[in-house]
Amino acid sequence: MRRFLYLAIVSLALAVNVTAQSQSSPPQPSAPQTSISQPSLKDAYKDCFLVGAALNAAEFTGEDQGEDAIIKSQFNTISPENVLKWEAIHPSPGTYNFSQAEKYVEFGEQNHMFIIGHNLVWHSQVPKWVFEGKNGKPVSRKELLHRMRDHIRAVVGQYKGRINGWDVVNEALNEDGTLRQSSWLKIIGDDYIEKAFRFAHEADPAAQLYYNDYSLENEAKRRGALELVRKLKAKGVAITGVGLQDHVNLDWPTTDQIDATITEFGKSGVKVMITELDVDVLPSSTHTADVSYNVASDPKLNPYPNGLPDAVQQALAQRYADLFRTYAKHCGLVTRVTFWGVTDKDSWKNNWPVRGRTNYPLLFDRSAQPKPAFDAVIQLAPRQAP
Ligand code: G3I
Repeated sequence: MRRFLYLAIVSLALAVNVTAQSQSSPPQPSAPQTSISQPSLKDAYKDCFLVGAALNAAEFTGEDQGEDAIIKSQFNTISPENVLKWEAIHPSPGTYNFSQAEKYVEFGEQNHMFIIGHNLVWHSQVPKWVFEGKNGKPVSRKELLHRMRDHIRAVVGQYKGRINGWDVVNEALNEDGTLRQSSWLKIIGDDYIEKAFRFAHEADPAAQLYYNDYSLENEAKRRGALELVRKLKAKGVAITGVGLQDHVNLDWPTTDQIDATITEFGKSGVKVMITELDVDVLPSSTHTADVSYNVASDPKLNPYPNGLPDAVQQALAQRYADLFRTYAKHCGLVTRVTFWGVTDKDSWKNNWPVRGRTNYPLLFDRSAQPKPAFDAVIQLAPRQAP
């Protein structure tokens, strides 16, 4: 319906144009002209927070025209879906591969984006060699701290003054708020998080530094994160903010849980960013975003392979409206809302926790067209488009 409307508007504008032109000059084969401006998320939320998306390589190299137009018209901040992760940028000892990351940062600079780095210290997508000595045995605390410092110095140093904010440590907590038993914790000890932030601040004192995690709306996990923030701040560690990934479902977490979570982190003296937003509309029993969690494929878990029923489309629009109403209630405390992807076509949610599903978690569909959820978010905005 929307595509028909959009095309109707375009052809009307064209007709008007052609008539005007034919009266003044011979008709020109030209790209469709339209004076009707597409509402923009970044402009609509200008007085509240930045709005952005995580980009894969095809997106920051402009391979997909439709997505390129969305990114440049809708967003004022970008995050790297995979290109700045340890395995991609530092695949082997002493070897750094900045080629793709450079294209990502250049794309951000050319389009005046607030550029995010994701991520420096994580338990996933880190090559085994990082934690192993020559004999395959775990390296010492001293050696692993040395490797962490080298990596952070090299990567943050490479983009000093160009990348504006870093997810320094990602997903270091268990659901009960205790520290995840990662190789970082087992080898270095629980001060590895403090060390990572100090190394990052040392490498670029101007960069914003974040702790990023999922399911912080779960009270036990939130308490663990608040304790982490309190300890870091008590030691004078430069932590700017906490990232709520918000890989949510249609009904979890509740907006009250999100509201309380934002308020509590605000009280602990840090900014809050929504860093990896998407809304899973498919049957899912999980509240985790842990990539190691997988479910066997089953047709019952992939109910909409040929399109989303209108009732679910409307439920998605309502969900996004409720989420943005909650975020916009905290303008200034919530400084950024980043979607984890641009269109439904490339979302990781098509392959997680079940591979090969057809999911619809974002505001733009597989033809790069805005969905009803997009309109709902725009209509809610503090600053209505002209
Ligand atoms: O690069 C290899 C490629 O060489 C190979 O041909 C291909 C075949 O499988 O795999 C490619 O690696 C994939 C990588 O994305 C790059 O595309 C990995 O298999 C795949 O597992 C990896 O998935 C990423 C996932 O993190 C891995 O942890 C997703 O794209 C990415 O969206 C997801 O993002 C995470 C955030 O960083 C942290 N929070 C949760 C979020 C979702 O899991």
